[in-house]
Amino acid sequence: MAQGPSGYSLDQQAELREALSDHPEWKLLFVEETTSTQDEVRNRLRSTEADHLCIVADRQTAGRGRQGRSWIQPGGEDIALSLSCPVSDRYPALLLPLLISAALHEVCRDFVDTPLHLKWPNDLLSPQGKVAGILIEGQGPDTWIAGIGLNVGSTEFPPELEGSATSLSLLTDHALDRVSILGELLQVLARDLGDAEAGRYDEIIHRFNTALALAGEAVTLTVRDEPIHGTLDRITPAGVELRDGLSFPLGEVTALCTDTADR
Ligand code: BTN
Repeated sequence: MAQGPSGYSLDQQAELREALSDHPEWKLLFVEETTSTQDEVRNRLRSTEADHLCIVADRQTAGRGRQGRSWIQPGGEDIALSLSCPVSDRYPALLLPLLISAALHEVCRDFVDTPLHLKWPNDLLSPQGKVAGILIEGQGPDTWIAGIGLNVGSTEFPPELEGSATSLSLLTDHALDRVSILGELLQVLARDLGDAEAGRYDEIIHRFNTALALAGEAVTLTVRDEPIHGTLDRITPAGVELRDGLSFPLGEVTALCTDTADR
């Protein structure tokens, strides 16, 4: 098979562009190696109007995660991509992490034999550890850059991640094809972002909450540095809702975890 300029062959790139044929607003680019796909999108946005740009990289040399962490992406096995999402007055910006998480969950659960859940704000988890993470960064007043790192084929992780990270391949007996998974992911992301841009997003919020870890369980929220105990009902772009009717804006909730308090 002809090899293209990246770890994705030219045939694979064509197959992935075809997966987006119902969504011509999306432009899909591939790079073999970059510091971070977030930087790739950001650099292109400086020079062009590039809404609905998706950049997929085989390897990242300085991939980053939330809270200053790094994201290791040696190449050949996993998926790293970033999307430029135009700010829209048809949906709230705080929908984006929910939308991207729900899309990841919808696609990945079909490829593994173990249940997957979403940990607010940005992680896809299995009982064996974290499978994917999401990073959302602003780019001026008009654009959000949403990055996804999904462990597909990796079987080894740096010592600091041993025991906390896993991959789809480690969660199933079947051989997995990174291109098939990426194709489905691109389709679901384009569909859901299109719906959100048209103002249709109730079903996305519902899907996110169906997959949400700790829904219906006793939790502790940290709100403005204070612990709040309650039973988690759901999370929407407006906030974290507890079963007793209390709700807290997402921007004020800095942690959400299983309630360990004696009550
Ligand atoms: C996290 O779990 O903290 C978020 C990880 C996000 C990693 C992805 S990989 C593609 C994109 N480019 C980056 O540098 N980071 C995100």
